[in-house]
Amino acid sequence: MRAVTVIPGVAGSLRLLDDYPEPATEEGSILVEALAVGICGTDIEIIEGLYGEAPPGIDHLVLGHESLGRVVEDPTGTLQPGDLVAGIVRHPDPLPCPNCAVDEWDMCRNGMFTEHGIKALPGFARQRWRLQPRFAVGLDPELVEVGVLLEPTSVVVKAWDHIDRIGRRAEWQPRTALVTGAGPIGLLAALLASQRGLSVHVLDLVTEGPKPALAGALGATYHSGPLDQLGFEPDVIVECTGAPRVVLESMYRVAPTGIVCLAGVSSGGRTIDLDAGELNRTLVLENNVVFGSVNANRRHWDAAAEALARADHAWLSSLITRRVPLSDYAAAYSPGPQDIKVVLDFTA
Ligand code: BGC
Repeated sequence: MRAVTVIPGVAGSLRLLDDYPEPATEEGSILVEALAVGICGTDIEIIEGLYGEAPPGIDHLVLGHESLGRVVEDPTGTLQPGDLVAGIVRHPDPLPCPNCAVDEWDMCRNGMFTEHGIKALPGFARQRWRLQPRFAVGLDPELVEVGVLLEPTSVVVKAWDHIDRIGRRAEWQPRTALVTGAGPIGLLAALLASQRGLSVHVLDLVTEGPKPALAGALGATYHSGPLDQLGFEPDVIVECTGAPRVVLESMYRVAPTGIVCLAGVSSGGRTIDLDAGELNRTLVLENNVVFGSVNANRRHWDAAAEALARADHAWLSSLITRRVPLSDYAAAYSPGPQDIKVVLDFTA
């Protein structure tokens, strides 16, 4: 069967193999036929040789951690043939650490977790894959066009879950949320903020293309100026750019008792001047919290499936700016300036 692979650590090693072996039954009892795989910055980093790890004993890694497929067979009866399904990205570490021991693998403490298409587990960019029932998330059949957004949605569901938990340290009635960065993670974070009834603001550099209207369709206010000219202090900031200046500015601009969730991964290597004392003073005297958030556990994936089912499917569909047939796979990994989410289409 066909599979998109790379050799981790080797830039330019992206390939479409025709003779990749069928998934081994040890991978799980649920056999799935791939429909689509979403592409994100992590895939690009892996292709550039900067990230990623092959499964033990082999040199290549099948890409793809944002999955959507259709169940072919499930002898356990958890799902039915024809059901839409997505695979949970992260598997717990083998020890396991205290968090993985209670299935909170998104909070793994020893770094020995594995991730489909990223770290030591083959990804979903292959025509067929297998899942164990505990890592298989069923989706509403109406989500066939947009269910591939489940993985990035699970990531922002986890971010909001932790914002809520942190908020409960005291009386907490947030009214305003700012999302920085109107890429797929940012827009999905804004969708969840609007589903919570918050007054939502989205900030991004671009003034053209689909982003301002997509934010507007959520009822959010779109800003393209600098963060220090926002004109108000948000109760919550979900930072999705990873841009060092925006990250720092978010910490200064959040309202007293506010929460800043860092959900964007910076590339690193750039330094900027910072008055660490002043930042410390702001955070301490205002009881602010800044925290990082990555990945998601089963609870978040199930809640993400519900959030997608509740959302406007036409709005979700317009986040997918390009669907690239598998045969043209390399084009899918070169996002254009107007792209939000690019998807590899296994049905074309
Ligand atoms: C994925 C996460 C993963 C992270 C780190 C992100 O692109 O969405 O599931 O944990 O990369 O590998």
